[in-house]
Amino acid sequence: MITEKLQKAINDQITAELWSSNLYLQMSFYMEKEGWDGAAHWLAKQSEEEREHATDMAHYLIKRGGEAKVSMVDVVPEGWGSFSEVFEHVYKHECHVSELIDSLVDIASSEKDKATQDFLWGYVREQVEEEATAASIVDKIKKAGNTGLFYLDAELGKR
Ligand code: FEO
Repeated sequence: MITEKLQKAINDQITAELWSSNLYLQMSFYMEKEGWDGAAHWLAKQSEEEREHATDMAHYLIKRGGEAKVSMVDVVPEGWGSFSEVFEHVYKHECHVSELIDSLVDIASSEKDKATQDFLWGYVREQVEEEATAASIVDKIKKAGNTGLFYLDAELGKR
């Protein structure tokens, strides 16, 4: 059985994951409007992934005898600037999510809940990948130049 404190913390993270999902969906719409269909596709996939994180956390809570909640999700920003600025924001956001997950592990640890720590380590590892992927896209954008951006956009569309 999961403790109340940990249940609340995971429910807060579910809300944060849904916010991330909306953030990436908004970015996807923005890039589609800007004519970058590949980046829009990549961001839409990212949005789906964030929603999966939220639902996986909810399934975990229920499995442990807890209750999963869908709380109100704050409105996300819009208007993102250049191709590069969009992905710089993705990178910064993933670094922020890593901090949130680290804090959750700390709470699970203070509650002496080994199973939840183990469950959360999966997300800690995944954040390493998420940060690295976003950083690598930012790096490629810098190297691409104007013509290269069209190639990069096509590559992002293959996700
Ligand atoms: Fe749910 Fe991108 O981390």
